[in-house]
Amino acid sequence: MARKTVKFGVIGLGLMGREFGSAAARWCHLLTQGPVPEIVGICDPNVQTHQWFLDFFPSIKIATQDYRDLLQSQEIEAIYCAVPHHLHEQIYIDVICANKHLMGEKPFGIDQAANTRILQAIQAHPDLFVRCSSEFPYFPGAQKVIQWIKEHRFGKIIEVRSGFHHSSDMDVTKPINWKRMIEYNGKYGCMGDLGLHTQHIPFRMGWTPQRVYAVLSKIVTERPDGKGGMAPCLTYDNATLVCETTDRDGNLFPMYLETKRLAPGATNTWYIEVDGLLASAKFTTRDPKSFYFLETKAKEQAWSRVDLGYTSPIPGITAGIFEFGFPDAILQMWAAFLQEFEGKTEPVWGCVRPEETRLSHALQTAALKSHHNKSVEKIVL
Ligand SMILES: NC(=O)c1ccc[n+]([C@@H]2O[C@H](COP(=O)([O-])OP(=O)(O)OC[C@H]3O[C@@H](n4cnc5c(N)ncnc54)[C@H](O)[C@@H]3O)[C@@H](O)[C@H]2O)c1
Repeated sequence: MARKTVKFGVIGLGLMGREFGSAAARWCHLLTQGPVPEIVGICDPNVQTHQWFLDFFPSIKIATQDYRDLLQSQEIEAIYCAVPHHLHEQIYIDVICANKHLMGEKPFGIDQAANTRILQAIQAHPDLFVRCSSEFPYFPGAQKVIQWIKEHRFGKIIEVRSGFHHSSDMDVTKPINWKRMIEYNGKYGCMGDLGLHTQHIPFRMGWTPQRVYAVLSKIVTERPDGKGGMAPCLTYDNATLVCETTDRDGNLFPMYLETKRLAPGATNTWYIEVDGLLASAKFTTRDPKSFYFLETKAKEQAWSRVDLGYTSPIPGITAGIFEFGFPDAILQMWAAFLQEFEGKTEPVWGCVRPEETRLSHALQTAALKSHHNKSVEKIVL
């Protein structure tokens, strides 16, 4: 039976634009009856980025440097937009006002004011399906943590730790790029880039931070500008947020959210750990096929480790004896986006909702204030 096709335009053909292209090209991997994405339009002012798409996607009919050309196309139903943060507000709002469905990227607006205006546009177009990308919860080990939370296996929560660590900035000779510049990345620094990844599972599980104390670090203050000189590097490198959080029963517990660009030895290390009175569990992409758990049975507790193999939330052709990796998580996220978009089945795990980006901005705005004032700040939505 022919499956529904959703015709996409891609705005921003860098790192993440290409990841979507690769996922769309690998749809045969999935054993799902959900809709299939077809890339029919691409846009990036840097024309050198176009060729890879044109080489591999004969379906492309429009290749442009101006995203408005994609928005005018009657054929394009949905847009994936992966551009620097200072462009989110304008482009996301234009996409929504052109009546196109949208998968946006985090932080979904460069700051809280931009996010509020994007959310107002979404509210004015209730028929559109809008989500924000976040792929790490699709790892089998992360899904297992989610399953344990849903099954209330932890008992009363003691604490939650969620983080995202990188180390490539430890190389102080690495030239500056837009992600290290406030005007393009935003004042949140590493939180704007990495924060939502640490928040997706806690927020969806109903763990809402009420107050935050934040320590933000600015360690590398300048970087090579790529032209023989040095440029100021003013974004925060590392952020540690201690959040006073409530669970659905109103119990308070501490939630530690860490986003670090200077985490020695870490390469895209995303992790979550939930400690409870009855049980604890953790997953990290550093050990991508393992799920660690502990059941509190006696005076002494022991952590157990189980190899999960390829147990993807949306079934694929890969046998369970094999391993799961980052491109698989991206593919799963896109399959979940399209399943939810079609609305026939509830996805096993849905992409970040616009309201969750509002909470993320409220938290990160409070974190900036907390760091500045050396104070504990309330999260104001
Ligand atoms: N989900 C994830 O894991 C993940 C990872 C990295 C980045 N991101 C997010 O994705 C977004 C893009 O990041 P990236 O790493 O792909 O950046 P990138 O620098 O690799 O790519 C951005 C692209 O946008 C293009 N661009 C600039 N202005 C444009 C315009 N007006 N119209 C169309 N294209 C334009 C640039 O030329 C560039 O090719 C950001 O919001 C970032 O936070 C998400």
